[in-house]
Amino acid sequence: MHTRLLSPDQEGIAAACDLLSRGEVVAIPTETVYGLAGDARNPRAVAGIYQAKGRPSFNPLIVHLPDRAAAERFAVLDAQARHLADAFWPGALTLVLPLRQDAGIASLVTAGLDTVAIRVPAHPVAHALLSAFGGPLAAPSANPSGRITATTAAHVTDPENGLGGRIPAVLDAGACPVGVESTIVGWSGGEPALLRPGGVAAEAIETVLGQRLLRPALDPDAPSSPGQLTSHYAPRAQMRLNALAAEDGEVMIGFGPIPGELTLSATGDLTEAAARLFDVMHRADAMARPIAVAPVPENGLGAAINDRLNRAAAPR
Ligand code: TXA
Ligand code: MG
Repeated sequence: MHTRLLSPDQEGIAAACDLLSRGEVVAIPTETVYGLAGDARNPRAVAGIYQAKGRPSFNPLIVHLPDRAAAERFAVLDAQARHLADAFWPGALTLVLPLRQDAGIASLVTAGLDTVAIRVPAHPVAHALLSAFGGPLAAPSANPSGRITATTAAHVTDPENGLGGRIPAVLDAGACPVGVESTIVGWSGGEPALLRPGGVAAEAIETVLGQRLLRPALDPDAPSSPGQLTSHYAPRAQMRLNALAAEDGEVMIGFGPIPGELTLSATGDLTEAAARLFDVMHRADAMARPIAVAPVPENGLGAAINDRLNRAAAPR
């Protein structure tokens, strides 16, 4: 199969809608990372997503919608969820909410759970596509399962590390501005919990809620977000973290004052580091040498960056 590049204009969006309406999958830009989208109401389309990614079927998908009103049709939002939706949507926050069972979401999307993960993306092309399509789009990140996340259309179409040849089309809108996946918040016994650190800093969510988030994501023995398999985002090469300099043949990825052949951000800017993270990992991986990464502070977006680095470096 040849993977077509679609332009991010009306014509490209119409072509993407046409494919999606026929139950095909299309890779789409969002402000966080590229997603592999399919009609969340069509079991065949959703099966196509799992198949193209080679993803274990117990791992549920995020449903993308144009606004909060659409989210209310598919899930139940209580006062706290509405408060977060109003503060952070459109944007890099995913909420895990009670599913409205009769709303038509294919059970393969939620992997049979009674909750559904919902996000309203801020990317103008994603928003235009969702409005034109007029239905819910299930979309995990557009990388083969366990491989490095795609933040450019070139990452998606890469035949070796991406989905090139496995999907019909990519809507190409350039690099994703945030660069790490959305932050996932769910509720556990009525208490809000951080299920995955991501593009919205946990501190910002806590400020809006006026309370601390539970942090089950940081407890490796309690993967409450079923997607939190430890080895994830994996380059082929070994990765060594918190490195201060390269050792025998390593590709050094610097941060701030610690220099490297590549750097996440020479000025130590965490927003820039998040935006560059996966592209730098793709570049380092292409060098086919072991990788060393400078320490990144844990505050703000640093939590999401370190989460991805720890998974990439995990034994597998
Ligand atoms: O930024 C993002 O979130 C990107 C873009 C494309 O929107 N999407 C993304 O999807 O990262 P994915 O499939 O790679 O990650 C979805 C995560 C998984 O860890 C999954 O386990 C979790 O969401 N998830 C989905 N539904 C869930 C549910 N009902 N309960 C708990 N976790 C859920
Ligand atoms: Mg992913």
